Amino acid sequence: MKFFIDTANLDQIREANDLGVLDGVTTNPSLMAKENIRGAENVKKHYVDICNIVKGDVSAEVIATDYEGMIREGKELAALHPQIVVKVPCTKDGIKAIKYFTDHGIRTNCTLVFSVGQALLAAKAGATYVSPFIGRLDDVSTDGVELIRQIVDVYNYYEFGTQVLAASIRHTMHIIQCLEAGADVATCPLNAILGLLNHPLTDIGLQKFLDDYKKVNG
Ligand code: G3P
Repeated sequence: MKFFIDTANLDQIREANDLGVLDGVTTNPSLMAKENIRGAENVKKHYVDICNIVKGDVSAEVIATDYEGMIREGKELAALHPQIVVKVPCTKDGIKAIKYFTDHGIRTNCTLVFSVGQALLAAKAGATYVSPFIGRLDDVSTDGVELIRQIVDVYNYYEFGTQVLAASIRHTMHIIQCLEAGADVATCPLNAILGLLNHPLTDIGLQKFLDDYKKVNG
């Protein structure tokens, strides 16, 4: 399973990357706005800055909602850096754009996916990744992790090459559940990744090792 960090915050990206286990980054317009990145040129520079920190794939989302606009923007984003994956919403024009990008060797991440049917269209269009939003499904009393399980099953059954990228992960337990559901990638906030480290028995055990060492070594 690959680990992506879901943020546009450069300090958090550096911190996750320093752990040595980071495989990539996902962003979206809301995450860019949270970092107050304004204007098309600054947004592009920010994507390049992210690519220069991590080795893996970096999802950069189109703003256009029409087919021609998505193609124009997606080409510009893909030209920024070889690590860029063009993130496209799961709409009618979005699916058409993903098919175009697939046919022209540009990798894509189909975002805002909330159903198996949407995931099917993304895979048929040749998306590199599909991003089901599990936290937002949980928010409306629907089991987000169950959707991951269903998409993984369907993709395996029909041998689709699209990777299932679990998104809208809100906490550490979501990561474990996505792992068990067979997600190819989990994109997570930094605190959810760091939460994987927490265990009181590790802290207690380490303290005892240090205390015992001091007893004989002073
Ligand atoms: O990966 C998508 C993510 O950024 C959305 O998360 O918490 O806004 O649903 P959230």
